[in-house]
Amino acid sequence: MNLLKKLASAAAVTLLLVLAGLDAWGYLTLGHLEPGSDQPHDRNANTVTMVFGATGSVGDGLLKAAMEDPEVEKIYVVSRRSSPRIEAGVASGKVELVLQPDFTNYGNLAPILGEVNTVLWGLGTSSLQVDDATYTRIHVDFPVAFLTAWLAARTQAPMSFHYVTGMGTDANGSAHWAREKGRAEIALAAMARGSGLRTFGYRSGFIRPASDRANPAHYLLEYLLRPGQLAISSEDLGRAMLEISARTGELANGTVVDNADSIAYARAYRETAG
Ligand SMILES: NC(=O)c1ccc[n+]([C@@H]2O[C@H](COP(=O)([O-])OP(=O)(O)OC[C@H]3O[C@@H](n4cnc5c(N)ncnc54)[C@H](OP(=O)(O)O)[C@@H]3O)[C@@H](O)[C@H]2O)c1
Repeated sequence: MNLLKKLASAAAVTLLLVLAGLDAWGYLTLGHLEPGSDQPHDRNANTVTMVFGATGSVGDGLLKAAMEDPEVEKIYVVSRRSSPRIEAGVASGKVELVLQPDFTNYGNLAPILGEVNTVLWGLGTSSLQVDDATYTRIHVDFPVAFLTAWLAARTQAPMSFHYVTGMGTDANGSAHWAREKGRAEIALAAMARGSGLRTFGYRSGFIRPASDRANPAHYLLEYLLRPGQLAISSEDLGRAMLEISARTGELANGTVVDNADSIAYARAYRETAG
């Protein structure tokens, strides 16, 4: 019994030390972008928004942020299935659900892609759940196929594509997942070059589910990671994306947005909204 207690205390202390180390690292290294105080705000930049991954933990909050934004007039949710949030959005008249049969072929979206200004991409999975080839298909092939279809339908600004990649994303990294997400960020930015589209990669740490879906463990983790700016709520991440879209002259195509940057843009969103 004594041994068990000692092991449990040692595990708890180790965990706290790891979290403290992560927080120190985040505090010292994150946050490279500063939202300008005098940046013009394009009220039409998010008029028609499309959300991918809306049934997931991250995408649900992105959808919530878009549903609550008065400048977003219409939201297309592209998904394999519905969710309570999507149902509520459809009932409100602001959301239209497109049940997507194939995420490598968007021919069915051709009639609507010309209207879309902003895409919030929270579609993705853990590298622990799929093999490498499937991981590449979901995180590289899916968004590349979508961008190909979107750019065939529209190349006129304002257009922005916001891809949740994650902290540790690195085209030269040692892990397959990090390389593939890094490769996707680079490929998407290259595709957008010369068009009216800007693409962004969000290298967030812990993204807490929306307030009406989160449990006490989520809030505890958010609290523990807050000193290092390593946690953000999914709604705030969505608000940061909408703010970055609306500041059409501020961040260049291909900008990488770390977790501290997202926190700063979510704060700017609230200040703009008053
Ligand atoms: N959660 C975090 O703290 C966090 C932090 C940093 C980065 N991220 C990244 O954010 C992304 C989403 O994470 P999450 O936590 O929201 O995951 P999640 O809760 O598992 O949600 C995944 C979403 O992607 C969709 N999806 C997954 N595989 C698909 C496929 N093969 N075809 C079509 N749709 C598919 C799911 O749709 P269905 O409902 O139809 O399965 C769901 O909407 C991932 O890339 C993840 O690495 C997450």
